[in-house]
Amino acid sequence: MTINEVRTKYLEYFRARGHVIIPSAPLVPQNDPTTLFVGSGMQPLVPYLLGEPHPQGNRLVNSQKSFRAEDIEEVGDNRHTTFFEMLGNWSLGDYFKAEQLPFFFGFLTDVVGLDPERLYVTAFIGDDKNNVPRDTESAEVWSKLFSSKGIDAKVVEVGSEADGYRLGMRDGRIFYYEARKNWWSRAGVPENMPTGEPGGPDSEVFYDFGTRHDLKFGENCHPNCDCGRFLEIGNSVFMQYIKKPNGSFGLLPKQNVDFGGGLERIAAASLGNPDVFQTDVFDDMITLLEEFSGAHYDDTSKTRSFRIVADHMRAATFMLSDGVRPSNADRGYVLRRLIRRAAQHAQKLGLPQDQGSESLLSRCALIVIEKYRSAYPELGTESAHQEITSEIWKEEKQFGHALEQGMKEFEKLAAKGLDAEGAFVLFTTYGFPFEMTMELAAERGISVNMDEFKARMKSHQDLSRAGSEKKFKGGLADASEETTRLHTAHHLLLKALQIVLGDHVKQRGSNITGERLRIDFSHGAKLTAHEKAEAERIVNEKMFESLPVIRSTLRKEEAEKLNAQHEFGAKYPDMVSVYSVGPTSATQDDPRFAEAFSIEFCGGPHVANTSEIAEGGTFKIVGEESVAAGIRRIKAVLVNSQ
Ligand code: ALA
Repeated sequence: MTINEVRTKYLEYFRARGHVIIPSAPLVPQNDPTTLFVGSGMQPLVPYLLGEPHPQGNRLVNSQKSFRAEDIEEVGDNRHTTFFEMLGNWSLGDYFKAEQLPFFFGFLTDVVGLDPERLYVTAFIGDDKNNVPRDTESAEVWSKLFSSKGIDAKVVEVGSEADGYRLGMRDGRIFYYEARKNWWSRAGVPENMPTGEPGGPDSEVFYDFGTRHDLKFGENCHPNCDCGRFLEIGNSVFMQYIKKPNGSFGLLPKQNVDFGGGLERIAAASLGNPDVFQTDVFDDMITLLEEFSGAHYDDTSKTRSFRIVADHMRAATFMLSDGVRPSNADRGYVLRRLIRRAAQHAQKLGLPQDQGSESLLSRCALIVIEKYRSAYPELGTESAHQEITSEIWKEEKQFGHALEQGMKEFEKLAAKGLDAEGAFVLFTTYGFPFEMTMELAAERGISVNMDEFKARMKSHQDLSRAGSEKKFKGGLADASEETTRLHTAHHLLLKALQIVLGDHVKQRGSNITGERLRIDFSHGAKLTAHEKAEAERIVNEKMFESLPVIRSTLRKEEAEKLNAQHEFGAKYPDMVSVYSVGPTSATQDDPRFAEAFSIEFCGGPHVANTSEIAEGGTFKIVGEESVAAGIRRIKAVLVNSQ
């Protein structure tokens, strides 16, 4: 099957089973400071998994654009990609294990046509420490499902991954693993979950490609082995727990199902080929690269570079269409890295960089657009085409320039006898690829200690990883009052900025933690001291007016008519959740609704009354800067006056 077929069939299959198809949220998270990019289908749905009613009901299905930056280094094997589409179906307190597992099994065997003999599944072994029992119910449901296909499914106990390598398959079909493998939350295992975070045991399905086990990975093969024989194609999370402040687990108000399936992986399984880069997603791009480089994908010394270029250009195309631009920080930095790494590997393949007005990388982007525009119309507009290709081209040229600078620096360092530290500086400061440093050094008869360089890189990566973990916890740990207050203050500020600066002000990004709010918005000039003071004054005034904050569910068109604000480029389903602030309590039929101080498309959470914001202190703008042409960024806090 092609990826477009898998996606359409999945959505239709669940629609026929009472699910409403909802659009993919943008890759850039909205009102969610926990990660730079949306990395799973559930992320935009967290408020609903925590108990808020979803405007579209209790059964939802979609295909979510996802990006996992932590996988950048993994790209190059036959299955890791940074960007992927996650097929998702959700039960918000509706069906549970007894329905979910048959749904997915039916989709795989009856719709995609996978041979049930090739499917292996896992379930949670149980965790006494956290009082979570073994998931025997899933194992029982699976037994029945396999039995319906004439397969006698043996249940075996594994435990950890290491146990798996020791114990092997043992003719098992249903395998019990510990939390590291069969528990899912955004933060991973139960111990890593911050207070208020939802999670639960899960059950994964693996496809067996029947390849030989590679002893490099361990003595015996088992479903969670990394040798490539088994590919995880879907994960049903039974999201029913929440971490309590005392560290124990409580039950969520409702038992939810959060399912995530790898679209490309299911397509790969349908083709019986474990290489996701040989699905139709990447076909045309690889053919183009082969044509211009004369290199062949099957040449094992080149395969990795083909995969890196193809993966990174797909990810970069989607990021650009969701408004990310190359820069030196946060998302922009990730995008910059993707484009530069792709450029570097394109060179390795022997591709000429300059193709006149269009680079080969931007032609790769056009192929991505063609493939995905029917499912993601935001890619298909004329302006998206132009912006995406010109940004890629611009970044390639800048990279070329940086390489020139790096070259000069290299010569200086080489004159003094280049060491690992020098190679590290070249890499981190000038983006000068290590392989290139090594090659040039070898030409001059200098040898650089590779182990030392790697050790230096590792401590650098550990540091940045620690930084992102901190970011993750920082955002969630305070998901309670402080963040909620600042979230409502954020709505007030957007409106205040429109009053002070004009209606051209639109939200272009936001990020809220317990300590501060951050808003990016369209405006062409630095704010004057007077403008900042005025915006602050309005926000504080609205806080002290004690205005009610009301959530309503409206049809999208109605919300648009009310001029409800939303982030540029965001997509919304037919029924939307809207938060309005003041002037009095109002329902959607109430004409006063239209007189609200602020109305925004938003999933919450918010305080019930603006006076609650004042409990956190006085609203104060602490920073104002430019982040891109025509886009300003404000950081603001609540300060206690005593
Ligand atoms: N949220 C689950 C995952 O990402 C389904 O694997």
